[in-house]
Amino acid sequence: MGGDITGKTVVPLVSNAAGNYHFNFQGQEFDDVKPSELPEFEKRIMNIGLYPYRTSESEYDSLRSETGKVSALFDRLMIDRLNAWKELAEATLGPLGVKCYWTGGNDDKQEILDAVSSSEHFVNVDGKLAVLESGHEMISLGWSTPTPWKTPRECDEEQLASRLQPLVESLKAPSTCIFNVHVPPFDSGLDVAPKLDASFDPPKPVVEGGQQVLIPVGSTAVRGFIEKTQPLLMLCGHIHEVKAEVKLKRTMCINPGSEYSVGILRGVIVNLTKDKVLSYQFTSG
Ligand SMILES: [Fe+2]
Repeated sequence: MGGDITGKTVVPLVSNAAGNYHFNFQGQEFDDVKPSELPEFEKRIMNIGLYPYRTSESEYDSLRSETGKVSALFDRLMIDRLNAWKELAEATLGPLGVKCYWTGGNDDKQEILDAVSSSEHFVNVDGKLAVLESGHEMISLGWSTPTPWKTPRECDEEQLASRLQPLVESLKAPSTCIFNVHVPPFDSGLDVAPKLDASFDPPKPVVEGGQQVLIPVGSTAVRGFIEKTQPLLMLCGHIHEVKAEVKLKRTMCINPGSEYSVGILRGVIVNLTKDKVLSYQFTSG
């Protein structure tokens, strides 16, 4: 699970004097919703990566008056969600003996990631080398190059290279390893995104001749390390618009894309032998 795993919005579900709830979800106002109807809405809200939060009118007013309180609530909900996933992994993957290796992405705050400890089947491998059950070494990094969104874990190409360098050097068998790096290699076809004008808040897509202008936004440092090391497999994400695979020299590079905002979780299943990518299959659900 390769990063950008925390949500961006809390949806307050505010109870009224009668004990029913009022909230705004996807631009629609919901009023006088009975508590028995709430779990279905909460599920819909959670499925698109947001955080439902049941609250009272007085707590809601107090949250609105102090931004610090909102930020503390946000942090708590993010940590709670990650811990709930950890419990889910232990309950579902544990009996199968399958591990979920995860990293944060550039969108995820370091202090939130640090607040969630690994467990046997939910292992944070960000900035680490992990040896998979198959024997393949995997190095992982969730940071990205600068974005117009000024997200929490961005750095320039040089700093990204200095984060990757020790990981690459720690590999015993580089030719059979996996790069699990959030940001795609530059100009690989896996990093195509709309060009944004950052002078607007939020940044606005640049349009020319009625068409959105698309540009490569990946990392030259990541591409350099792939071409030099030529790992067996490179897994990336970060750019939601692309669902594709590409070969850079001998390395199969895959970005499954993202549609989380419409409630779809995308992924890829890759079949490996020791030194070959046998097959892969994109998944969504
Ligand atoms: Fe990202």
